[in-house]
Amino acid sequence: MNVAPVRMADTAARHARVAPAVEAAVLGVLRSGRYVGGPVVDEARRRLAESFGWRHGVTTNSGTDALVYALLATGVGPGDEVIVPAVTFFATAGAVARVGAVPVVADVRDDLPLLDAATLPLTSRTRAVIVVHLYGEPCPVVAPVPVIDDLAQCAGATPAPKHGHLGAVSFYPTKTLGAAGDAGLVLTDDEATAAALLQLTHHGMTHLYEHVRVRGAVGANSRMDAIQAAVLMAHLDDLPTRVATRRDNAAHYDATLPAWVRRLPRHPSHPVHHYVVRVPHRDAVRARLSAAGVETAVYYPVPLSRQPALAGGPHAPTPRAEAFCAETLALPVHEGVGPAEVERVVAALGSTAP
Ligand SMILES: Cc1ncc(COP(=O)(O)O)c(C=O)c1O
Repeated sequence: MNVAPVRMADTAARHARVAPAVEAAVLGVLRSGRYVGGPVVDEARRRLAESFGWRHGVTTNSGTDALVYALLATGVGPGDEVIVPAVTFFATAGAVARVGAVPVVADVRDDLPLLDAATLPLTSRTRAVIVVHLYGEPCPVVAPVPVIDDLAQCAGATPAPKHGHLGAVSFYPTKTLGAAGDAGLVLTDDEATAAALLQLTHHGMTHLYEHVRVRGAVGANSRMDAIQAAVLMAHLDDLPTRVATRRDNAAHYDATLPAWVRRLPRHPSHPVHHYVVRVPHRDAVRARLSAAGVETAVYYPVPLSRQPALAGGPHAPTPRAEAFCAETLALPVHEGVGPAEVERVVAALGSTAP
């Protein structure tokens, strides 16, 4: 008998759970003729900001652009250095390079792949720090320069981390709150900054066909379209249920994984965007799981300091990130996974390491 694989994400199955609401909302937008801006986007800005616990939200067309515009609104530009952690998705550093600044990669903590407040490579050129709350784990770093929270993996956190003056969110389809395409959000508590962000993401337009620099930067088009906003609004109500299932699955793994599999500490606010462990001989472990029909993923296989696009940067040494990247392994934890699937994964891991 063929047993269905345990998958890392299943966006079609997730759509099926909320299909009537999503399809009605999308049809409503199609019939309204308001595809850019309009009431559905306004509602998304308000409700999404509220769900992350910030006063204002400016929707963008990706999480990467949310970081770019957060940096521009902070006044970051050519010649500035911005500190980023060694373990994160490339976009965290890529956004810094996109605004002409220099990403400076810092090592992570011993216990978790998060920036270490004690070893930030600050210099006189450091203009900002991007703090990544990886997997949904809050990283309580404060710094003597503006902090931007990378909240890409934090949808459903209770509460969402807030250490900086701006936050950036991704609604990439496999995120716990995902659109049906690319979409993102910049968060701020400051009304003037929200207005600046809105202008920056609309070509720096003051009124029709007049364009100004905003905080020294030229704007461009980065708008979340009304269809993505409608999809996200229809998914938002399901978010607490998703997070509850993910937390149950994580607790189940914590209690039943074999002793040779190292768990990571998890803050109570954690929405379990990813459930990550450390294992020796990681690739052999993946092969063992794959043979048993269990998908896994690696977030992330190399520290950013070794990404070719960032070569030659003034990066700090990253020995802890190297050690983490060699052992990290994400197990299926999403809302389509239940106790039976967790038990299958645990059984497939086996009682001894390969
Ligand atoms: C930590 C982190 N930062 C930034 C991004 C970029 O978001 P997007 O893919 O929406 O551009 C992602 C998501 O992929 C991410 O996981």
